[in-house]
Amino acid sequence: MNVTDAQDVRLSLDGGINYFNGRPYSERFKKILAKRKELAVYDRMAAFFEMYDRTQVCLYVGETGSGKTTQIPQFVCYSDQPHLKGMIVACTQPRRIAATSVAKRVAEEMDVTLGKEVGYSIRFEDMTTPDCTFLKYMTDGMLLREAMADPTLSRYSTIILDEVHERTLATDILMALLKQLIKKRADLRLIIMSATLDARKFQTYFSLEEGALVPLLKVPGRTHPVEVFYTEEAQEHYVEAAIRAVLTIHRFEIPGDILVFLTGEEEIEDACKKIQQEIEFLISHKEMASSIGPLICLPLYSSLPPQQQQRIFDAPPAPRTHGGPPGRKVIVATNIAETSLTIDGIVYVVDPGFSKQKVYNPRIRVESLIVTPISQASARQRAGRAGRTRPGKCFRLYPEQVFTKELESQTPPEILRSNLGSTVLELAKLGIKDLVTFDYIDSPAPETLMRALELLYHLGALDTKFTLTPLGTVMAQFPLDPQYAKLLIESPKFGCSREVLTIVALLSAPNVWMRPIHKQREADQAKWLLSIPGGDHLTLLNAYNQYRLNIRDPQWAWKNYLSKRNLAQADNIRAQLQRIMERNDIPILSNFPDPKTEAQLHENIRKALLTGFFMQVAHWDIEKRAYLTVKDGQAVQLHPSSDLEGKPDWVMFNEFVLTTTPYIRTVSAVEPGWLLTEAPRFYDVSSWPEGTMRDALQRASKRVNRKPKRSAAT
Ligand code: CDP
Ligand code: MG
Repeated sequence: MNVTDAQDVRLSLDGGINYFNGRPYSERFKKILAKRKELAVYDRMAAFFEMYDRTQVCLYVGETGSGKTTQIPQFVCYSDQPHLKGMIVACTQPRRIAATSVAKRVAEEMDVTLGKEVGYSIRFEDMTTPDCTFLKYMTDGMLLREAMADPTLSRYSTIILDEVHERTLATDILMALLKQLIKKRADLRLIIMSATLDARKFQTYFSLEEGALVPLLKVPGRTHPVEVFYTEEAQEHYVEAAIRAVLTIHRFEIPGDILVFLTGEEEIEDACKKIQQEIEFLISHKEMASSIGPLICLPLYSSLPPQQQQRIFDAPPAPRTHGGPPGRKVIVATNIAETSLTIDGIVYVVDPGFSKQKVYNPRIRVESLIVTPISQASARQRAGRAGRTRPGKCFRLYPEQVFTKELESQTPPEILRSNLGSTVLELAKLGIKDLVTFDYIDSPAPETLMRALELLYHLGALDTKFTLTPLGTVMAQFPLDPQYAKLLIESPKFGCSREVLTIVALLSAPNVWMRPIHKQREADQAKWLLSIPGGDHLTLLNAYNQYRLNIRDPQWAWKNYLSKRNLAQADNIRAQLQRIMERNDIPILSNFPDPKTEAQLHENIRKALLTGFFMQVAHWDIEKRAYLTVKDGQAVQLHPSSDLEGKPDWVMFNEFVLTTTPYIRTVSAVEPGWLLTEAPRFYDVSSWPEGTMRDALQRASKRVNRKPKRSAAT
């Protein structure tokens, strides 16, 4: 086999002409190249080619920030030459924000246009050009979806699975599929890439021969020592503690930027505001002003708009006066900054020890994001962020005892803590028959698989033999949870697929309701004015419709406490879902344009939603003063954000939020009779255990049977 000569690649990069498009290199290219040459990965180019060129599958392990994600795919392009054979090199990322920001960076590094030679693909956003893009960054979920349409992934010549240590659900499934695929496609190359990894487990897993190991290249990063500090006691209010830590560092430590790990958007925005306020307060005091440098505090989380994401790479602020105390940059991030994104210049890390993690309880069929203590492995990664450029310090806001005795050593893979509804549908579409013996790297709990099969059976995606039905095949076309796909497909029967499409798009976009900390009353009032009796789904629809009606008024969304950006995103999602509906001949109807038929429209919309959400229903229990979820009888309360009035007996909900009080969020009223007409198989009362829920359903059933059958939608 031809071994690519690293020397030739270096010569090409140092020559004046771009190997991939024959154009002269720009000045910016040369400047970035100098930086690239400092990366640990760059030094090991020859060793990489030596391994890549002689094996079909290999592992590459290297410290965060050593240049894996940006450099390795470029190296691969020199050897694989996808541009000459009309193929694509793919590099998967668990996070959208990593896929987009790295693609942008690599397009700059390669001196090409983003979206042309180098592109990215994430759910609802394809930034590639057919017949031109040969290097594609994409989320692992997108590659999995592509595999459903093209099981041999025939467009790809090399697939790089990056950040494998994150063990996302999609990456785990991809690993199993690719393991099968490499046996069928001798020309396909696979690179498993990661920051920290139990390498041997993966070396064995991918080996096609018993007892053999696939090759591994391990590149130590150039990191500096990081001194770790603990608090004496556990902190009850970790956000407050983190803010205090930042202020202390800023006042007493030598220059260097700070990275703070918090758990989610709201918490992060809140902390940024408070830090900025505290600093301004300090600076406003004359005796302090001369000793405290300027500080800029920037948030970083996945739904942050791209321009704002980009600001994290800006330089820290300059001193206020010549020779005055130096400025400092503080970045308050989710665990995106743990390994996916590297920010240069970080010297201090503040780690409260928590992140939001998915947990799934198959008993009550609830998947939730919960603030959970991180693992030791995560804590080590976080600390490592402080030693990128020079020796750093990591402040863990918990006692050392907690680290050694209480934190788990690794975060369990996502497949062990997720609802597998979508995954099982995807696997069914991929023709995987036996879900239990499928070659997972870590097998999911049988109970979780059962729950997924049960859901898909009730939705009609699988038949009694658990094979994919025609409905299931169409459902699998949608990059949505199966419930949403089902109700979109059913919605034309209710004459309101246009409206339902809007609601699904809104539920798939980030939250459109804004509730700024100091304007909560005003925001609630604005939302109340938009609310529609019957529930939050209709209110969402109304907000969107009003936004479209007032599209010429650039202030409208802002005045109504709606996020224009998220509404625009919903618009984009809507357009894409509409295309999938059209491709599958699902008519887009709006049969109730007349205000006089509005009540009928609202009823039909809720019925249509029920065809997907019939398992997410709860019944008001007078004694318990709570809603009880159907089948599982879990007591829940309406989320405070809900505008649903009058405590209707039966409600359907979009989401179960597990906090100290379990809540249901985005809730609409439904009639019990609808449950029987729209989901007769699930609500077959005779099979239900005795109890108030069954009694209530039985009463409803009697009423339904007295009424004439529902006439077809007008
Ligand atoms: O994947 P890995 O963590 O090994 O590193 P990387 O993402 O390839 O990043 C290597 C270097 O590229 C970083 O240290 C940054 O200096 C730079 N980089 C950047 O400047 N802007 C980006 N959007 C991504 C990387
Ligand atoms: Mg990386």
